[in-house]
Formats: sequence, C-alpha cells, structure tokens
Amino acid sequence: MEYEEITKKLNSLIQLDIDAIHAYEQAMKNISEVYIRDQLAEFRNDHHRHFRELSAAVQDMGGTPPEYSPDFKGFLIQGFTALRSVTGTEGALKAMESNEKLTNKTYEEASSWDLPLDAISLVRSNFDDEKLHIRYIQTSLRDRIWEGRGTPTKPGDEARL
Ligand SMILES: [Fe+2]
Repeated sequence: MEYEEITKKLNSLIQLDIDAIHAYEQAMKNISEVYIRDQLAEFRNDHHRHFRELSAAVQDMGGTPPEYSPDFKGFLIQGFTALRSVTGTEGALKAMESNEKLTNKTYEEASSWDLPLDAISLVRSNFDDEKLHIRYIQTSLRDRIWEGRGTPTKPGDEARL
C-alpha cells in the first residue's frame, strides 16, 4: 500500500479509538461500582494510548491524524445512542459490549492489512487489548458481577473462571 492509503486507513482506526474513549466515559457515568468503573477507565486509557501511538505513526509517514475532539462526533453511533438512554451498570456494559464488538471486528480486519512492520505490530497489539476488553465485559455480564458474585479482578483472570 502507498503511504497515503495507509495513513487513511490508520486514521479510520484512530477515529474509532477516539469514539471509544467517549463511549467509555459515558458508560462510566452510569456505573456506581468503583471496581467496574476503574476497570473501564483502564480500557479507556488503552484506547487513548492507541490514539496517541497510531497518531504518531501517521505523522511519521507524513500524514495528518484526526484531532482529538472533546465532543463525541459519532462513529459508534448505535452504541453511543444506547448509552445515552441507559441507566445502571448492566445497561452500560451491554452498550459497551456492542461498541467493543465493533472495535474488535475492525481491529481484526486491520490485523491483515498490508502495512509496514511497525504499523502492523501496533495494530495487532491494539487488537490484543480489544480482545481483553470484550472478554472482561462479556464475562462481567454473564456473571452479573455487580451483584457481587464471581468478580474478576483484572482482565485475563476471567478467562480461567
Ligand atoms: Fe476496546
């Protein structure tokens, strides 16, 4: 792929990560359990790291990454709309599950893009983060951890439950 095409594709991933940051912040407002909110804050921080590192990669290739907007501009529209109408932990986690399905699917596709080695390593490492995010959310919903049973303490633990 030409650099122009590569940076365009990476920019679409960056936009997705920006939207995921906003979606997590909205979800966290609906969650009263501190240990779940803290976990979602870590996932938001992962998306922020993806945003920073992919943006640096695009700049190294002479491209211009999307700007971080403090407002939600809408890419994950369905999940975000759901987040605005939910109350409570279960609803917030369900909305984030649908958002994470999208980020996982997108990163899975991106993992097979024909990119320079540095960029593909970054994309695949980000995809690994996404897999942990959705696994935590799905396990939390399955076990209804806000009810105080079977609480996974960190991503990775729940895979062994
Ligand atoms: Fe994620």
